[in-house]
Amino acid sequence: MEDLSDFVLWKQGAEGKLYRGDFLGYPAVVKERFPKKYRHPTLDQHLTQERFKSEARMLTRCKNAGLKAPTVYYADYNTSRLCVQYFPGSVTVKEYVSARLLGMTEGTCEKLHLLVEIIGRNIARLHDNDMIHGDLTTSNLILTAPHDDLNVYFIDFGLGYVSHSPEDKSVDLYVLERAFLSTHPNTEKLFTHLLDCYFRACKKDVKEILSTFHEVRLRGRKRVMIG
Ligand SMILES: Nc1ncnc2c1ncn2[C@@H]1O[C@H](COP(=O)(O)OP(=O)(O)OP(=O)(O)O)[C@@H](O)[C@H]1O
Ligand SMILES: [Mg+2]
Repeated sequence: MEDLSDFVLWKQGAEGKLYRGDFLGYPAVVKERFPKKYRHPTLDQHLTQERFKSEARMLTRCKNAGLKAPTVYYADYNTSRLCVQYFPGSVTVKEYVSARLLGMTEGTCEKLHLLVEIIGRNIARLHDNDMIHGDLTTSNLILTAPHDDLNVYFIDFGLGYVSHSPEDKSVDLYVLERAFLSTHPNTEKLFTHLLDCYFRACKKDVKEILSTFHEVRLRGRKRVMIG
């Protein structure tokens, strides 16, 4: 992956650049993390490497556990470039939910209910396999085309890690709760349904995750109150 000349720059985020192209004939995305000027160069290189490695490792682990995530085509340790499967015509769950809420066409409520059910169950499977996403937001979940089929894929595992700790799992859920409710206002009921489906589907440490989740929430609220 030294040569990206067949790829075109597609998106530029805070953390890195995404390129699109073909890998041996398959639609692909290359994710490249670039240095942050404000960080010490050695620390920066270390963090970039760690995120790159986490993402490659976690995506592969997802695939092995039968979870939906892009296939890793190539991981280049020298350049920290990760080449993964691209889903043409996909949208983020954020885009899908926002558009659905804005339009409120026939069947919207049912579709969104079904969508959060699937998301809740997928996260339960992720956690049952002791995988923590680390940055669960509705931008890091995508729906492949056709969107109404509700095929949800996990992406963006740079902060992911392996852990069986109920506390880590509940923080993962709490991050999603904060992201979900701030991105999509007035969706408390919908999110409660997501949690309900998560806990129903969870096979490991349900009680512990539930109780630590309430603690994490309380701690979060206190932090917000104190500022
Ligand atoms: N494999 C993929 N297939 C389709 N779209 C993708 C894929 N990977 C990333 N995207 C799109 O690119 C966006 C950014 O990707 P990703 O979240 O992996 O990078 P990021 O550096 O975290 O960017 P951001 O800071 O915007 O979250 C996603 O929200 C999604 O819209
Ligand atoms: Mg992202």
